[in-house]
Amino acid sequence: MATGSIRIEGAPYKDPSQPVEIRVEDLLSRMTLLEKVAQMAQIERLVTSPYALTKLSIGSVLSSGGSAPHHGSSALHWADMIDTMQRWALSSRLGIPIIYATDAVHGHNNLLDATIFPHNVGLGASRDRELAFRIGVATALEVRATGIHCTFAPCVAVCRDPRWGRCYESYSEDTEIVRSMTAIISGLQGSPPEDHLAGYPFHAGNKNVISCAKHFVGDGGTYKGVNEGNTICAYEELERIHMKPYIDCLAKGVCSIMASYSSWNGRPLHSDRYLLTEILKGKLGFKGFVISDWEGIDRLTRPLGSNYRYCISSSVNAGIDMIMVPHRYDIFLEDMIHLVESGEIPMARIDDAVRRILREHLELAREAVRKSLVLLKNGKDPNKPFLPLDKNARKILVSGQHADDIGYQCGGWTITWYGSSGRTTAGTSILEAIKEAVGEKTEVIYEQYPSEETLHNGEFSFAVVVVGEVAYAELLGDRSQLDIPLGGAELIELVASKIPTVVILVSGRPLVVEPDLMNKIDALVAAWLPGTEGGGVADVLFGDHDFHGVLPVSWFRRIDQLPMTADHPSYDPLFPIGFGLKMGLDNK
Ligand code: GLC
Repeated sequence: MATGSIRIEGAPYKDPSQPVEIRVEDLLSRMTLLEKVAQMAQIERLVTSPYALTKLSIGSVLSSGGSAPHHGSSALHWADMIDTMQRWALSSRLGIPIIYATDAVHGHNNLLDATIFPHNVGLGASRDRELAFRIGVATALEVRATGIHCTFAPCVAVCRDPRWGRCYESYSEDTEIVRSMTAIISGLQGSPPEDHLAGYPFHAGNKNVISCAKHFVGDGGTYKGVNEGNTICAYEELERIHMKPYIDCLAKGVCSIMASYSSWNGRPLHSDRYLLTEILKGKLGFKGFVISDWEGIDRLTRPLGSNYRYCISSSVNAGIDMIMVPHRYDIFLEDMIHLVESGEIPMARIDDAVRRILREHLELAREAVRKSLVLLKNGKDPNKPFLPLDKNARKILVSGQHADDIGYQCGGWTITWYGSSGRTTAGTSILEAIKEAVGEKTEVIYEQYPSEETLHNGEFSFAVVVVGEVAYAELLGDRSQLDIPLGGAELIELVASKIPTVVILVSGRPLVVEPDLMNKIDALVAAWLPGTEGGGVADVLFGDHDFHGVLPVSWFRRIDQLPMTADHPSYDPLFPIGFGLKMGLDNK
């Protein structure tokens, strides 16, 4: 049974104007135990499915080295794959987005033709911290451009023996050189403000990624440089040589830290509560999340992963917050539930881990919607843009069957196979988002199908008409005609012929918009199937952010043109693939 009440309007966790801590506590209070432990799981791309992300609400997905989208490794392939997964996640009961992660350790090295920078040992040779910063900026841009949110970088190992197979991943044998090169974190995540508290994660926005300093701690100091070996030294030496770079990482707001496969004086890092919790989270004050390495907890037993419940309880109780499972997530979830219900893992530990993870999620959700919206028309006169709308307008009319319908916003594969209309899950409808966005004096009137009286005497500043397709999946979505269903075109005609109108199309594909109807519309936005985060639509409608999306498909004029893709000999779309307008807002 889900804890907390299914959100109706204005839940704090959905409201980005609320402090993150308030939002985290509100969301945590609504989560079931399964949803909480699922947020602590990171699974590999290959085992990811709608079931894992929508039904189970798994928190994170990774591409391990070389694990590229199966249908191609271009930026578009990556972005399509991750957008699809994000839609699955945003369709979950609480709509918590995934964090997608990969090892972009010297540029976006998973991406074909991406810029590949020198490995860390070469950058250490440069002694150029500003260069490291700029590489971080460039890497973050390329990683985000493919939809990825997190990179397992930088490696801040201090390599003390070049016989170690990962020596080139270390900037230097000299701790101070490694410390200076942590400047890359500010390039990756953005530079925190002066008053930023060390240890708290910092993430600047949609041109930045979550970074992950690794591998905590002493990975470069193992005996004879044996990989995943044993670092034998007193705590003072461990702190002086291997731990100091993490202090710089915390000062730069590093969002996550990866535990090392190696051991310290025979104690595996993945189950060392003293180092992971008492030192890293206690003494150093780290407030981000600690992630295991790949099957890192499995290495706590021999044969690997035997007595898996022991692997889980000893690592989670030691302070690991997210487990890079990466395949057997069903067993992981089952064992986690058992361990919490038996009391072997206290619920307080689960809540602490999930809090640390959620601090990263919530900022991503709205952005995922904002970046997907495409502005197709903005003003009947190109020199007089219609958007952004005025938040302090006197009176706004909102109409259309999709204006206040979470189910339609999410489309198919949402709670049920085909999806359905209505409040099928927690979320913010477009109407709710508009109400939350406008000024106190602004009156918002909602009439799904406005009366003649309303239209003639309403004295509205403008109208927002939200129409589109019903929820469908697979065969039920096959249509030979692609007009706007449910009388959407007629409603647009009715409203737009009397009131300045922006139309928001909620659909899984382009739909026919006849020329004379297009002429009557003041602005047109393709919202696709945005999911539960209606707030992302309001963010761009009212100019808090500019539009970012461009058409991923050709927008045909008439159905008889189909099939018509960009390589078609008589390519004559209403809007070509790649089309998308901006409002031209500064720094948004
Ligand atoms: C590997 C590496 C780690 C990497 C992780 C995910 O085992 O130890 O550096 O980030 O798996 O690919």
